[in-house]
Amino acid sequence: MYGQVMLAEDKNKPQDNKPKDYVLVLGVESSCDETAASVVRRTQDGKVSVLSSLVASQDEIHTPYGGVVPELAARAHMQKIESMMAQAVKQSGIKWTNLHAIAATSGPGLIGGVITGLMAAKGLSVSLSIPLIAVNHLEGHALSPRLTDDCPFPYLLLLVSGGHTQLLSVKGVGEFTRLGSTVDDAAGETFDKTAKIMGLGFPGGPAVEKMARKGDPNAVKLPRPFFGKPHADFSFSGLKTATMRAFESLGTTSNKDKANLAASFQKTVCDILCDRTKYAMDMFKRSNKGPYRFVVAGGVAANASIRSGLENLCADKGFTLIAPPLKYCGDMVP
Ligand code: KG4
Ligand code: ZN
Repeated sequence: MYGQVMLAEDKNKPQDNKPKDYVLVLGVESSCDETAASVVRRTQDGKVSVLSSLVASQDEIHTPYGGVVPELAARAHMQKIESMMAQAVKQSGIKWTNLHAIAATSGPGLIGGVITGLMAAKGLSVSLSIPLIAVNHLEGHALSPRLTDDCPFPYLLLLVSGGHTQLLSVKGVGEFTRLGSTVDDAAGETFDKTAKIMGLGFPGGPAVEKMARKGDPNAVKLPRPFFGKPHADFSFSGLKTATMRAFESLGTTSNKDKANLAASFQKTVCDILCDRTKYAMDMFKRSNKGPYRFVVAGGVAANASIRSGLENLCADKGFTLIAPPLKYCGDMVP
């Protein structure tokens, strides 16, 4: 998103008394169940500093339903958005009038939440007479490693979130080639459903991971759709159904049974992600020169066992793994 902001020395920009060697941007994100606001400064040499970063979670609101309820999410965003933006500006130590632009998620996401954040940002941009930058949610994830890591283009990206599972070749800001994508459910959604079926709580990913620590990953055999196939697409719906059937067939479940199923499920997702990524790495190598970089982003990237599987894969295939800090690679509160 930063590439689209005019620097103050741009010839076409009206002259003003704003600083000339950096841009200050207020970012707003409200696409699912967290309201976030942050002020970042980007200097001309491309270095970015996060001056403030606030995330308000709605977990308490959605937990009783075992998933995000869109209407409740939109209402909660509406109640929070103004104070989050004000706090982000205050904590960054700048004034409203120092801002050069406002960036807001413009989708994909839950429409009620997206509209709330985008309209609040739009109103502010009009009142401050500064540009509004509409940011694609997935592009935000795709570029997140560049906030903290030396991550030049091009790189291979695995985006694994609650709504998406994709392998992208990232060549620049706004320049992506999709190498593979899920044909049905996203990996995060599969974690969330598995947690719901097993009564582990919400959000599902961290709950399954916690339970899996006490289990045997080889206890239950589960399907690995597309495994070994010569393309980089994913499929998770069969795994979701098989996990549900496996849980039902246990009858009355002990914690040991639950832990074994959670561990087997997690290992299966990890195997699928690594197998499809392996194929995408070969595709990436065919059209790019080294050194090769691989970035994993999105909420599921928080999973330690998945990260470690991808670490081993990178070592095998000659890629450097870049895993942005958890607080920047998902939408959630770290
Ligand atoms: O990127 P994200 O924060 O939001 C979007 O979906 O865009 O991803 C949220 C997803 C949820 O499905 C959540 O269950 C999953 O990431 N997740 C995890 C873990 N932490 C979050 N999945 C597996 N293991 C985790 N530790
Ligand atoms: Zn996301």
